[in-house]
Amino acid sequence: MAMFQRLLRATESGAMPGPRRWLWKHWYNLMSRRWDDAAWGFMNYGYLPPEPLTLSPAEETDRPFIGLYHQAVAGLPVAGARVLEVGAGRGGGAAYVARHFAPAELVGVDLSADTVARAAALHAGQPGLRFQQGDAEALPFPDASFDIVLNIESSHCYGSMDRFVAEVARVLRPGGWFTWADMRSQAMLPSLEASLAHPSLALCASASLNAGVVAALDAAEARKGDAVNRQRLLRPLLREFAGMQGSLLYRGLRAGQVQYLARRLQRV
Ligand SMILES: C[S@@+](CC[C@H](N)C(=O)[O-])C[C@H]1O[C@@H](n2cnc3c(N)ncnc32)[C@H](O)[C@@H]1O
Repeated sequence: MAMFQRLLRATESGAMPGPRRWLWKHWYNLMSRRWDDAAWGFMNYGYLPPEPLTLSPAEETDRPFIGLYHQAVAGLPVAGARVLEVGAGRGGGAAYVARHFAPAELVGVDLSADTVARAAALHAGQPGLRFQQGDAEALPFPDASFDIVLNIESSHCYGSMDRFVAEVARVLRPGGWFTWADMRSQAMLPSLEASLAHPSLALCASASLNAGVVAALDAAEARKGDAVNRQRLLRPLLREFAGMQGSLLYRGLRAGQVQYLARRLQRV
């Protein structure tokens, strides 16, 4: 486990961008092949907002994970918009946004082909929503083809945040929105700021989500424990990956050494 923690620190510090991309792609492919539970539509650490959020009874079990998506799009002009989610995972967040915010179309891309297949199967038949394989650092879309780009807890996996942000600026139409949330260690914040300071993107809003993310981790602890405890061999690794109580990430978020941030930027 000490080795796993050292590896996490090394990749997160910006070292080894190529191996980082490789590692995450294969990790998510592996997870999506093995983990066929239809109840898991999300793969984020979650966020419980301070203000009330009304959900349907069917959505209640995903409340901690939906919170991250809700805070990302609330107040943005999503109705009738062309929305791209980069790093859409198993598609639960994209499906939530499509259901509640009425975009004209929502395309979810993900580097992991197995994860895209899982998302497409889980959300088949939902109007205006589709998933395709694609790389955040070379988005398979023409210039100015989206009104909103959504990116939730995915960018820490990328080889180059600079290339990703340049791609977002390219595929957004002038006046379009980039809404982003993810975590970084304190040491990585200057490099993150530099990447987000793209000349074609104006910073409009910034928030720290730590308290709500820790609350979501606490709320999801029992549910994750049930799934993780079934995996005897992988249990310690999965506890770390899932951000369970006592994990490196959980302790870092509580102590503030890890910052979970949200940003909104507008294409100028
Ligand atoms: C922690 S999961 C979050 C998924 C989803 N946003 C959610 O909140 O449920 C990170 C996702 O980013 C995807 N990803 C990693 N690197 C990527 C890249 N270069 N381009 C697109 N997606 C990528 C992974 O395959 C994974 O599905």
